[in-house]
Amino acid sequence: MPSPASPKVVVDMDAYRKTHVSQLLSLASKTVVITGGARGLGLSFARACAEVGANIAAFDRLDTPHSDFALLESECGAKAKLYNVDVTDAAGLEAAFENVKRDFGSVDCCITAAGIGMEKPFLETTTEELKSLLMVNVLGTFLTVQIAAKHMKAQGTGGSILTVASVGAHCAVPGKLIAGYCATKGGVLAMTRAMADELIPWNIRVNSISPGFVCLFLFSFFLLHFLHSFW
Ligand SMILES: NC(=O)c1ccc[n+]([C@@H]2O[C@H](COP(=O)([O-])OP(=O)(O)OC[C@H]3O[C@@H](n4cnc5c(N)ncnc54)[C@H](O)[C@@H]3O)[C@@H](O)[C@H]2O)c1
Repeated sequence: MPSPASPKVVVDMDAYRKTHVSQLLSLASKTVVITGGARGLGLSFARACAEVGANIAAFDRLDTPHSDFALLESECGAKAKLYNVDVTDAAGLEAAFENVKRDFGSVDCCITAAGIGMEKPFLETTTEELKSLLMVNVLGTFLTVQIAAKHMKAQGTGGSILTVASVGAHCAVPGKLIAGYCATKGGVLAMTRAMADELIPWNIRVNSISPGFVCLFLFSFFLLHFLHSFW
């Protein structure tokens, strides 16, 4: 019996010379949706994307962004708009993505930086506190990626999605009372792997990063608690 023909693979050994590395890194004319983009890491990601040509649609529950948000337009030449959205509200998120399509034309990339933290002993953490962490960090990430990927699939253009986990998803952080927070970031990491696998057919890449401590707003919250513990 003849064996099924194996797929023909064409390898262009000169491909590396045909696309300049600056093109590979460019986000020119791409729209990046960034949850938690009004300040902190989300705004830092927005700045990095804008510097390589992207336009920025920031989703945040804050009405007013950090003053540096205005620099995305004035210094980077990006179109940047803040949408007031709570990432735990599916209907609100869907409406916000529709508004991005209307205002920007497409959804090409998405970064899920909206998140909350809490430092409290494991044995004293209440169900309600854990639920609120899970709602924002896990449900908020799940819903955002799901809706972003539906838009990318409908566009037929592929896309790139980045979730934000934490070093706490990988190991204990000695001295930090963050079991609840770690539970949520472990969830983010686990779901990212599954989403990445499922979204391959539509050329949607899903990655996750796990920052250590970055001295921004949420970190200052932990820092203040840490310092207060000595007073
Ligand atoms: N800063 C760090 O050291 C650090 C380390 C590891 C991971 N992270 C993660 O990075 C992400 C950003 O952290 P950050 O330090 O910039 O915090 P931050 O508090 O400065 O920024 C978080 C942003 O998310 C927004 N947000 C929170 N809940 C929301 C909701 N329900 N809907 C919409 N927006 C909401 C906030 O308004 C804020 O603008 C978080 O997911 C955090 O867990 C931060």
